[in-house]
Amino acid sequence: MHTITLIPGDGIGLEITKAVTDIFSAAQVPVQWEKQNAGQTTFDQSGELIPQALLDSLEKNRVALKGPITTPVGKGFRSINVSLRQKYDLYQNVRPSKSNAGIVTRYEDIDIVLFRENTEGLYSGLETWDERLGIADSTNRITVAGSRKICRAAFAYAAKHNRKKVTLAHKANIIKMAGTLMLNACKEAAAEFPQIQFEDKIIDNMCMQLVNKPEQFDVIVTTNLFGDILSDLCAGLVGGLGVVAGANIGDDMAIFEAVHGSAPDIAGQGKANPTALLRSALMMLHHLGEHGHADRLEAALDATLLQKEKCTGDLGGKASTSEFAQAVIDNLK
Ligand code: NAI
Ligand code: MG
Repeated sequence: MHTITLIPGDGIGLEITKAVTDIFSAAQVPVQWEKQNAGQTTFDQSGELIPQALLDSLEKNRVALKGPITTPVGKGFRSINVSLRQKYDLYQNVRPSKSNAGIVTRYEDIDIVLFRENTEGLYSGLETWDERLGIADSTNRITVAGSRKICRAAFAYAAKHNRKKVTLAHKANIIKMAGTLMLNACKEAAAEFPQIQFEDKIIDNMCMQLVNKPEQFDVIVTTNLFGDILSDLCAGLVGGLGVVAGANIGDDMAIFEAVHGSAPDIAGQGKANPTALLRSALMMLHHLGEHGHADRLEAALDATLLQKEKCTGDLGGKASTSEFAQAVIDNLK
C-alpha cells in the first residue's frame, strides 16, 4: 500500500480529484490518500497559504497527486505551484501529449513528451518595481547547473523510452546569455547520448512548426516560460487541456498534476474532464512501479474515450464529470 499526499486544489480540483479517487477505489489500486490542501481555501480557514501539515505530508510521502491551484493575476500571493516546485527542486515538468483514439483533432499521429525546466527562468520570482522611474524588472535567471539537469533528464528519458530525437526550443539569438547557456547545456547532454538525434529551434519557428507539422517532434526540452506556453499548445493538438497529464519530478520527490488550471469558468458545474488528472495519476502509478494497475486503468480510460456519449462536453459528449468516472469504472476489466 502506498500513502500518497492528495492536494484537491481550487475550482474544478474538487470534482476531478473525486473522480480519480473514486476510480482508484473501484479498481482497488493499492494507494491510500492523505488529503492536504493549499491556497485560498486554506488561507481563509487557517491563515496559511501552504500549511505546514501539507509540507510535512509531502516530505514524508515524497509522492503527491495535485489538483490545480488558482493564482491571482498581478497583486496578491505568489504562485503556490511555483513555490512548491522551487522548494523541493522539482526541476522536471514532464508533459506528454499523445493522440487519443476516439478524440478527433486535425492531427492523427502525435506523440510528444515535453520537458519544461520547472524552477528557474522568468518564473524565478526575482522581480522589482521602481515606481519613480516606472520600470519593472523580471529577471530571467538561468543557471548552468539547472540547464544541465533538465537537458540531461530529457535525453535520459529519450534513451530509456527508445525515443529518436530531442528538440530544444530556445531564443538564444536574442536572449544571448541565458539562451546560450541552455543551448550549450543541451549540446553537452547530446554528446552523452550519441544514439539520439539532437536539433535546436528558435521558439517562434518552433510554434509555427508545432501547429503546421507536429508529427515531426518527439521529445522537446525548453525553459520554464516557453515550456508553460508550448505545453498548452501541445494539449491543443491532441484534444485540449482536459486530456493532457503532467508530472513535476525532482531527484527525491514527485508531484503529479494535469497541465490545466482551476478552470473557474466551469468550476462546480460537473463539466470538467477528469482525463488529464487521471492520466497524471497513471504516470504516478508507473513512478510507483504499479505498472499493472496503470495499464488496466489506461485500458478502461481508452475504452471510455471511444464512447463519445460517455465523454464530457469538451470532447463533444454530454456526460458529467462523475458520469465519465462511472463509465471508466464500468469499463474496468
Ligand atoms: P485553465 O487551464 O484553468 O482553463 C483554460 C480553459 O480550458 C478554460 O476554458 C477551461 O474551462 C478549460 N479547461 C481546463 N481544464 C479543463 C478540464 N479538465 N476539462 C474541461 N475543460 C477544461 O486556465 P486559466 O483559466 O487561464 O487559469 C485559471 C486559474 O488556474 C488561474 O488562477 C491560473 O493561475 C491557475 N492555473 C493553475 C495551474 C496549476 O495549478 N498547475 C496551471 C495553470 C493555471
Ligand atoms: Mg500552464
